Amino acid sequence: MSLLPAQKINCTDYSIYFNDWKQLSFSISNADYSKIICIVDDNTQQHCLPILQQKIDRPISIIMIKAGEKSKTIDTCTKIWKEMMLLGADRHSLVLTLGGGVVGDMGGFCAATYMRGIDFLHIPTTLLSQVDSSVGGKLGVDLNSYKNIVGLIKNPNAVFIFPEYIQSLPNRELFSGFAEMIKHALISNVELWTEIKSINPLERKEWSEDIFKSVLVKNSITEEDPMERSIRKKLNFGHTLGHAIESENLKGSYPLLHGEAIAIGMICECHISYQKGLLEENILHEITSTILDLYDRHPEAVEDIDAIIPHTRYDKKNRDGIVKCTLLNNIGVALINQKIEEEEMRAALEYYKEV
Ligand SMILES: NC(=O)c1ccc[n+]([C@@H]2O[C@H](COP(=O)([O-])OP(=O)(O)OC[C@H]3O[C@@H](n4cnc5c(N)ncnc54)[C@H](O)[C@@H]3O)[C@@H](O)[C@H]2O)c1
Repeated sequence: MSLLPAQKINCTDYSIYFNDWKQLSFSISNADYSKIICIVDDNTQQHCLPILQQKIDRPISIIMIKAGEKSKTIDTCTKIWKEMMLLGADRHSLVLTLGGGVVGDMGGFCAATYMRGIDFLHIPTTLLSQVDSSVGGKLGVDLNSYKNIVGLIKNPNAVFIFPEYIQSLPNRELFSGFAEMIKHALISNVELWTEIKSINPLERKEWSEDIFKSVLVKNSITEEDPMERSIRKKLNFGHTLGHAIESENLKGSYPLLHGEAIAIGMICECHISYQKGLLEENILHEITSTILDLYDRHPEAVEDIDAIIPHTRYDKKNRDGIVKCTLLNNIGVALINQKIEEEEMRAALEYYKEV
């Protein structure tokens, strides 16, 4: 049980609750739902579901998927939709997504499309999903290992964040989530960047305030531009090359985690910002060394540059085949819709390989 007080962020059409089991129980029990279905993966079934079941006094049906990004496919959605039908889910049922970004993005997508859309609540259980993926309504799945190609933007009825879930998270996953916190700091302000730089994730015992601040960054941007027509693209910093590296690595048997790929993507996109004369060299070095101090180096992940670059053609920010990227002008100053050239991407990937 968390000792920290319950907190809440009010968004336009839903709320994000922190440390509030009472409100979760109320949200589930008070509405007249015909059935409650909880989507979990094999890890969250073991580590997170028992805590949830203690707090909720209604029967919950469980749908379990295999953990990991390779499950985030339309085939897994088909399995979920079929199980929902077998369980007798109707338009008055409620879906809970209990897991990281994979369960949240895919479970939310299944709920948002089942019988043309039923209610769903996100209960994110990884650092990444608590600070990032559960907020802002992006739902969907990968296609042929291209990231998030099929999906939609639809907010859940509410998000419930319980930082206590982080306790059972493996260290690698913790660092993966921390990459999105670094991104939020880099695109928002120097103060948050200074705070983030001082955190050692392995020593952090209490994450609530850090998560809250990171969610404030994400939420203020997605509230202003929910459909990603303009400033929401700032959140894609690190993701043009990060997604390309992640997609290429998904082909292997021991792929990078999302945040690990984004950490590399941020270094590369800072280097492109530097190549274009947007970012000073000392800031490039400060960001690069901060990230490299935290993350294992993965030169093998960018070995095949010729295979990585074509993935950027499927980036959702592109227009007319031109690769558009979010770059940094300074810490806290992100520039959207920046056209980047193949040669700049190559130089940036070489920089990461050699730095
Ligand atoms: N929708 C968005 O706006 C958005 C933003 C960022 C990332 N994403 C997506 O999020 C996904 C990555 O999310 P993720 O990093 O949470 O990955 P994930 O969902 O694969 O979870 C990571 C691992 O941690 C395990 N796990 C989850 N909670 C646990 C807990 N409390 N204790 C022990 N193990 C636990 C999971 O089973 C999994 O093995 C990617 O698909 C990415 O594209 C979406």
